[in-house]
Amino acid sequence: MTPIYRVAQLAQELLYNRINAGDLVMDATMGNGYDTLFLWKRVQPTGKVIAFDVQQHAIYQTKKVLINNGWKEQDPTVELILDSHSHFAKYAYKPLKAVMFNLGYLPGSDKEVSTSWPGIKCVLDQLVHHYLEVGGYISIVSYSGHEEGKTEQTELLTYVRNLTSKSWGVMEIIRSNAVESAPKLIIIVRKE
Ligand SMILES: C[S@@+](CC[C@H](N)C(=O)[O-])C[C@H]1O[C@@H](n2cnc3c(N)ncnc32)[C@H](O)[C@@H]1O
Repeated sequence: MTPIYRVAQLAQELLYNRINAGDLVMDATMGNGYDTLFLWKRVQPTGKVIAFDVQQHAIYQTKKVLINNGWKEQDPTVELILDSHSHFAKYAYKPLKAVMFNLGYLPGSDKEVSTSWPGIKCVLDQLVHHYLEVGGYISIVSYSGHEEGKTEQTELLTYVRNLTSKSWGVMEIIRSNAVESAPKLIIIVRKE
């Protein structure tokens, strides 16, 4: 078994047994498509992944990764959407079982095209109030190594720490022996 030392990998490991065939799930930040591929494998053959990115390049990369893993372009179990995640409600036809975020910018791509707190908050507000199934999960990989990421992470941590513990389980996972700016993983579970 591969040792886990990357929080993005840990997010997938934690969600693996908690997503089932038939679920509706979302990759909020498609990028190179690795989370989209993971989610797609879990929800087949009757579920669906809605995946968002604001860059055409991300759609292209994700399509390539999916096709290399057996997806056919006409297969409706994945929808690759060139739009901001803040508009996800237009595409969610039932409550979501899992939502994955990997924040920041796509390595090797335009650093200006990065996630931002207002957009993330807009998604979280909608999920918290309506769009996440009871027993559903949100995973967020957050980076503070760049200036915008620092602000984004501070706002995000304040937000999740204020979710009521009666209805929400919230965990923050850090690499204890890494630099302070190492990525953090936040897991949110809807309890009721
Ligand atoms: C760190 S990358 C995601 C990596 C990805 N999960 C993977 O497996 O390769 C962050 C992505 O978020 C995208 N992004 C930025 N703002 C966004 C928004 N408002 N809605 C959706 N995606 C956004 C960026 O274009 C970038 O591709």
